[in-house]
Amino acid sequence: MRVVRRSDELRLLLEERRRKGLTVGLVPTMGALHAGHLSLVRRARHLSDVVVVSVFVNPKQFGEGEDFEHYPRDSEGDLELLRGERTDIAFLPSVENMYPPGATVEVTAGPIGDVYEGADRPGHFNGVCTVVAKLFNIVEPDLAVFGQKDAQQAAVMKRLVKDLDFAIDLVVAPIVRESDGLALSSRNVYLTAEQRNQALALSRSLELGRDAYTQSGDCQLTEKTMLQYLQDAEGVDVSYAGVVDPDSFDAPQPSGRILLIVAGRVGKTRLIDNLVVEAADGGGG
Ligand code: PAF
Repeated sequence: MRVVRRSDELRLLLEERRRKGLTVGLVPTMGALHAGHLSLVRRARHLSDVVVVSVFVNPKQFGEGEDFEHYPRDSEGDLELLRGERTDIAFLPSVENMYPPGATVEVTAGPIGDVYEGADRPGHFNGVCTVVAKLFNIVEPDLAVFGQKDAQQAAVMKRLVKDLDFAIDLVVAPIVRESDGLALSSRNVYLTAEQRNQALALSRSLELGRDAYTQSGDCQLTEKTMLQYLQDAEGVDVSYAGVVDPDSFDAPQPSGRILLIVAGRVGKTRLIDNLVVEAADGGGG
């Protein structure tokens, strides 16, 4: 595995691979890798000849008072895990390399970036769009793999690819969960044993939401069921519980797939989770 820290070096390496007709798959990450990330790398490994994984804690997607300074960082551990997945290139740029002094242009996500996660974290999705657009331009991948765990981010990425005409196949890989239902997240390391237990309320609220929808087909009732469960759950400070269209994050289409989304704080740790429910599972919108 090559470890590359500069974008110009990465461009040269990839030019060489592309000249040989090899396809390139990109997995953008912020490091602190866990089994969820590794499932994305495996997906890229399966679908492309050359796998590039970027590890970059992007300051632009953290708001004031968020955990940028304390975000878990373990580049040695990350590199070890990436070697184990037969990653070809690990790209670990510095903040100065990604955002040289004087850089001012940014990409904005538009309305989809202003609701739910975007409402709670103003500017977050603009930061994600900006860094991912830069990574797309540096790597010029044939495909890029994102996780369904960050469902709104995946929807924003679909818009980014479409709206800015990136010729990239976007692959969204399923959420990886612990056996008790907790969705894997780099932020789980912040949780004490008690908080980890309390955090299970998020995935449980989604299961209750799915059952409510299956029985009633009523989005409002589904939303209310999830919200009530989270409000009653010990140790959870709920941010939102919603039922949305998985692509637009607007109100769901009457007969389409729906996405159940929840977010809340357990202690100081903000956690999100989601579940797709097929229209056939419920009675409609
Ligand atoms: O999902 C993440 O880890 C980040 O938002 C991403 C896509 C790597 C951009 O910094």
